[in-house]
Amino acid sequence: MKNALTVQAAEKSDISAIHKLLSIYAEKQIVLPRSEADIEYYLGNFVVARLDEELCGCCAVRDFGGDLLEVRSLVVAPRLEGKGIGRALVEAIIAGLKVKRKKFCLFALTYRTGFFRKLGFHPAVKEMFPQKIWTDCANCPKKDHCDEQALIFQYDGE
Ligand SMILES: CC(C)(COP(=O)(O)OP(=O)(O)OC[C@H]1O[C@@H](n2cnc3c(N)ncnc32)[C@H](O)[C@@H]1OP(=O)(O)O)[C@@H](O)C(=O)NCCC(=O)NCCS
Repeated sequence: MKNALTVQAAEKSDISAIHKLLSIYAEKQIVLPRSEADIEYYLGNFVVARLDEELCGCCAVRDFGGDLLEVRSLVVAPRLEGKGIGRALVEAIIAGLKVKRKKFCLFALTYRTGFFRKLGFHPAVKEMFPQKIWTDCANCPKKDHCDEQALIFQYDGE
């Protein structure tokens, strides 16, 4: 069928395609680079979008504990941006979390604030997320001049 979009848990056979897609934006310093080994290790955190069987987007969630989680490694193939694929990926992550948790706080550090606001995220201050600052951010080339915005999505069972 033409233009059938699906979002599912990532499989081992998706690793190379996920890596390729992330690399496009990692080279532009829009997302953090991830090796194939790292993607494989955290594969259970990923969902992937397919359009007519072709992997066209991915998104991962990282659990910091204490009901604090991060949306990360969210990318859509450049030629397919603006078609609802990013929304489908983040909504799948949120739907999965709602099944497993009574409450959670999901955050993103991003340049795409308009996109996240459309999905119900609200602006936040980065200092709310110390674990993130001291792990990934410590190794990020932009750590001393980070211009990404923090946004959060809060769920408390309603
Ligand atoms: C950000 C990204 C994942 C969005 O995916 P996408 O498939 O292009 O977005 P969608 O088509 O699902 O957009 C969902 C909604 O957000 C809106 N939107 C998207 N970008 C927007 C922006 N910059 N400002 C305002 N609204 C925006 C869309 O209009 C759409 O609204 P609607 O559902 O009411 O029609 C994609 O553009 C991408 O891969 N960007 C590069 C990597 C990146 O920045 N990743 C985020 C790192 S945290």
